[in-house]
Amino acid sequence: MITQAAGDLNMPVYVVGGWVRDLLLGRNSKDIDIVVIGSGIKLAHRITSGLTKKHKLSIFKNFGTANLRIGDWEIEFVGARKESYRADSRKPIVEDGSLEEDISRRDFTINAMAISLNQNDFGSLIDHYGGKKDLENKLIRTPLDPLITYSDDPLRMMRAVRFASQLDFKIDCDSFEAIKSNASRIKIVSMERIMDEFNKILLSPSPGKGLKMLRAAGLLSEFFPELDALHGVEVVDGKAHKDNFFHTIQVLDNLSEKTDDLWLRWSALLHDIAKPATKQFEPEAGWTFHGHEYLGAKMIPGIFKKLKLPLNEKMKYVRKMVLLHLRPIVLSQNIVTDSAVRRLLFEAGDDIDDLMTLCEADITSANEHKIKQYLKNFQLVREKLKEIEEKDRLRNWQPPISGEDIMETFDIKPGKQVGIIKTAIREAILEGEIPNEKKAAFDFMVKQGKKLGLTPKKVIN
Ligand code: CTP
Repeated sequence: MITQAAGDLNMPVYVVGGWVRDLLLGRNSKDIDIVVIGSGIKLAHRITSGLTKKHKLSIFKNFGTANLRIGDWEIEFVGARKESYRADSRKPIVEDGSLEEDISRRDFTINAMAISLNQNDFGSLIDHYGGKKDLENKLIRTPLDPLITYSDDPLRMMRAVRFASQLDFKIDCDSFEAIKSNASRIKIVSMERIMDEFNKILLSPSPGKGLKMLRAAGLLSEFFPELDALHGVEVVDGKAHKDNFFHTIQVLDNLSEKTDDLWLRWSALLHDIAKPATKQFEPEAGWTFHGHEYLGAKMIPGIFKKLKLPLNEKMKYVRKMVLLHLRPIVLSQNIVTDSAVRRLLFEAGDDIDDLMTLCEADITSANEHKIKQYLKNFQLVREKLKEIEEKDRLRNWQPPISGEDIMETFDIKPGKQVGIIKTAIREAILEGEIPNEKKAAFDFMVKQGKKLGLTPKKVIN
């Protein structure tokens, strides 16, 4: 169809970029980029005029591109072009060009291959820069001088790390050096685009690899200094603390074996974010990070805002995970009491399973024996959680007696007394003094009211 239409118009046509790369990698992709020597818009019109299938064609005159959707396939048509860049912007000056010029301006050799769709050599691979070999050697390399490629479009530095992390590739040495020397230019890229790539790194099979690269290349400190600050070890009196950056990465990689959930992965990334700010050396105890979970939770909205991440339920979820991340661990190190488990269930609600996954991933130590011991205790916490959950149904708990019930029963107005009684009921249930039932809670409320000099006016069942 494309071949026929392009032949009629006498316009050579090629499929280029990501689709070719994915085909050679054996990955299925439904996004196709088509480069035409001529007008992409004209070719798209010609193709759709003969289409009987349901489709949607969008034309972007300013960019000279046409986007065709057929089912879940998305095909982008563009005329071959050459680009030149200015120092202060990612937006290039674009002119018509040859296929070679078009391909040479692309980011990596693995993305700079084309397949002919022309009748005379249909299906032949055009690979001027050794992209196929780089795919085999698992190498990220730029077609031109990497200093130019990265300086032209600094987002490509993030893309290099993203592809390396997603595909488990290496970044070529010259390329890596060029990224290092251009790292500060990432500032001209919008935070939204940086985060698009960063999230793809986080979602790769072992995100730790990409994060280490981002740090080593000097990119991380440019857009996420709080994470970069976790790196480093201080020694006082011969006592050193863990390198919290590498610890965080290990936690993230552990967790990534268990879940693809982006926000749970973010929680792992940020769980110790306040360690640098809370670090202290105490001669007796050694290094401490008291309250890092509280301060960490407090830092989350500011970090999300700066990184242009959603300030909605996702942010609240990450904040909650950071706040609670030590709780199951503390439980596993002490005797597991019913009331401590009840409190944890009460605070974590439906996120309890995610919290347990995070905490289990957080158990890292050089000492195998210690890890085994912790994991065993952790299993006990899980069992206890199940038992208490079945018995007390505390997940997403609603108190059996509401503030309204208290006001009606004692015929009082909203105020301090209502709060005191409500808290007393909640504490009694969490401590296991009374069961999580209406009748027991009502009797308890009456007793508490009496202590405050109140008598019930109404009886509820
Ligand atoms: N490209 C580039 N520089 C960029 C972005 C893209 O040179 N900053 C080129 C690459 O040749 C890339 C093609 O444009 O293959 C299409 O880009 P895009 O659709 O963003 O990425 P894909 O390579 O298709 O990969 P993915 O879908 O995983 O993002």
